[in-house]
Amino acid sequence: YSSQQSEQITLYKEAANLYTHILKNTRLGEDALNYLNERGITEDDINVFQMGFAPSDNLLVEYCKEHNIDYEQMRKSGLFVESDAGELHDRFFNRIMFPIKNQLGNVVAFSGRVLEKKENQPKYLNSPESEIFNKGRTLYNFDRVRSLISQKRSIILFEGFMDVIAANRAGTTNGIASMGTSLTSDQVTMMARVAKEVVICYDGDDAGQNAIARAIQLIEQESSLKIKIVFLPDGQDPDEYVKNNGSKNFEQLMSSSGESSTAFYLKYDRHGLNLTNENDQVAYIRQSIERISRLNDSIEQDIYLKQLSDEFSIDIGDLKQQMNHVYADQTIRQNNRDQRSTFVSEGETRL
Ligand code: CTP
Ligand code: MN
Ligand code: MN
Ligand code: MN
Ligand code: MN
Repeated sequence: YSSQQSEQITLYKEAANLYTHILKNTRLGEDALNYLNERGITEDDINVFQMGFAPSDNLLVEYCKEHNIDYEQMRKSGLFVESDAGELHDRFFNRIMFPIKNQLGNVVAFSGRVLEKKENQPKYLNSPESEIFNKGRTLYNFDRVRSLISQKRSIILFEGFMDVIAANRAGTTNGIASMGTSLTSDQVTMMARVAKEVVICYDGDDAGQNAIARAIQLIEQESSLKIKIVFLPDGQDPDEYVKNNGSKNFEQLMSSSGESSTAFYLKYDRHGLNLTNENDQVAYIRQSIERISRLNDSIEQDIYLKQLSDEFSIDIGDLKQQMNHVYADQTIRQNNRDQRSTFVSEGETRL
């Protein structure tokens, strides 16, 4: 780290300690502690994830003044917002604080959650990007997973902090979260460095389903990670599932074989289609065959083709023939591409 970065990291570390102290040991943190307890968070969780509470005073401004922290350093840290008059105020107040760490385990940002959701404020507020925090290259809990990851080298991708924490409490310690934004290719690369398989376990709602579709696409494009999808029933998220069904059931769910990305898409692609309508049926079957054609394993291909054949009462031979058309089209396209690149390499500049 540069000396400026080291200073910022020290400030974040001190802020995290301060917020944890407020939560665990002071009257100011009582409501937050009760809230967390009601959600099933244990003292152990608080310690492991160094959760804290930012009360409504200008606590951190005061702390920095007492410790003679340089104004410019404060301004750059992202921990404060500047008023029109040029005065700094705590960015985070009245929020439960989740420290976000880099790969080395240093706190580089915070996300703060309101105790009660109100109309005009975001549920989670995040630190802005800074010299030490690049959101797209950060994964919540990655520093711990990196060192804990088990022999089977599987990593579990959740949507949020509370999911990672609940799963960890339930014995699934290799969970990470991309923190709200959609997954980035840098994050995929990080996962691929430590794992062979990623288990996507997003919320069981529509937003979660859409996010799974996007995540699969990116992971397949950027890595050779094996993908498995675990679905949560009834619109629940992992945190709610653990609370409602207990750790045992969650562990069972996580150790189940899950679903392949193809199986996911064969369901997902039905959204917005009316499969009693023939046009929609044709479109769906075409798209499904296209997906199945991309599988490398012919046994897997046969299984999904059989499913389509059964569901739509189409001869499996016809489906296979259609799949061969797909391959033929791909070969033609590939040849065209090869030809074009030959032209270019022969010295024609093509724009
Ligand atoms: N998120 C965010 N800003 C918001 C809402 C969500 O940054 N206004 C991010 C958070 O990282 C959150 C994740 O998106 O953890 C998933 O969102 P959501 O499912 O709505 O939140 P939960 O993780 O379920 O949070 P909670 O259980 O505390 O409601
Ligand atoms: Mn969600
Ligand atoms: Mn959720
Ligand atoms: Mn939740
Ligand atoms: Mn919730």
